[in-house]
Amino acid sequence: MAQASLDTDWIRELRRALLAWFAVHQRPTPWRDNPDPYRVWVSEVMLQQTQTATVIPYFERFIARFPTVQALADAPLEEVLRYWEGLGYYARARNLHRAAQQIVQNGGRLPSTAERLCELPGIGAYTAGAIASIAFGQPTPVVDGNVTRVLARLLWLKGDLKTHAAQKQLWQLSEQLIDPQQPGAFNQAMMELGSTVCLPAQPRCGACPVSHLCAAYQRGQPTAVPEPSKRAATVTRVDVSAIILREGQCLLARRAPDGLWGGLWEFPRASREGRESLESVAQRAAAPLGVRIEPLQTLASLQHAVTNSRIRLYGYLCAWASGEAQPADAYDAVAWVVPDALASYPLSAPQRRLARALTQHGGQLSLQQV
Ligand code: ADE
Repeated sequence: MAQASLDTDWIRELRRALLAWFAVHQRPTPWRDNPDPYRVWVSEVMLQQTQTATVIPYFERFIARFPTVQALADAPLEEVLRYWEGLGYYARARNLHRAAQQIVQNGGRLPSTAERLCELPGIGAYTAGAIASIAFGQPTPVVDGNVTRVLARLLWLKGDLKTHAAQKQLWQLSEQLIDPQQPGAFNQAMMELGSTVCLPAQPRCGACPVSHLCAAYQRGQPTAVPEPSKRAATVTRVDVSAIILREGQCLLARRAPDGLWGGLWEFPRASREGRESLESVAQRAAAPLGVRIEPLQTLASLQHAVTNSRIRLYGYLCAWASGEAQPADAYDAVAWVVPDALASYPLSAPQRRLARALTQHGGQLSLQQV
């Protein structure tokens, strides 16, 4: 990444044009209407991996149920996860809950500096900068994917911007550019510009308030930067969830708190090895829990992605044969549940789809007979 030298007039004009644009074009969101620190924190955690339009209804439901840090700290984790269901990346919800308990133990107020915010679980430099600037008016920078793209184009930053050295420079640039009078609005304007105008493949340069300051636009090559960075190869795997039926109930297991989908329930799951049959994977999913099963048929198949893996997930209907279910391995609890009660258990989005398939097909399968 080339060293960029920033001219003070250029910076002043950037702040002016960007803030004037943001005042008119920002999307109305419930956290902007009332930037109370708790609300800003919840919104920024939801926005970490999820787009604004998706976040809004989740945010409203979450805040209606957990209106204060105290309410969140007092709630059972399962309920918090239930309100997070469908947003994905559930570690965010577990960390939010743990952090709320820490905040309550320390007097109930969110810290107001980025440095102290970073001490809370689930708050990294980006979220800390966003909360400190938006909720507390501190001139702390933020750099996320959107800000990186905007900076790369404004300043013609070549090379891989994911490297440690490039990231360090981006944070320094963001710190120099931030408007000390309106740091929260400035940071949000940069992010908003990246998500609504300075789009990755088809930037809307005609609608951009800072195209007259943009090096990539002036070169006529707005999409030439940022350059794509080398991505980790995508792996594809096949998983089977055994949907084990016994006297009208199905077996759910809860994943241990740490790690992927921690605290969520699922139909016991295993990954296929080599050219193994789906029936055999279903049996391996059930075996550690101490139950033997008879595989019946595929109920549903769907595709989903987790970080660098694409997963084909089969829900395989099975009849319980013997053994009393016990938690083991990745699971810390088990429960036999009637399909109608599945709605009250927090499940990941793909598992919820299997649960829906089960309730929809329940009648045809004569669950009571299995
Ligand atoms: N993305 C993450 N946080 C944001 C914010 N506060 N405004 C716009 N986009 C965002």
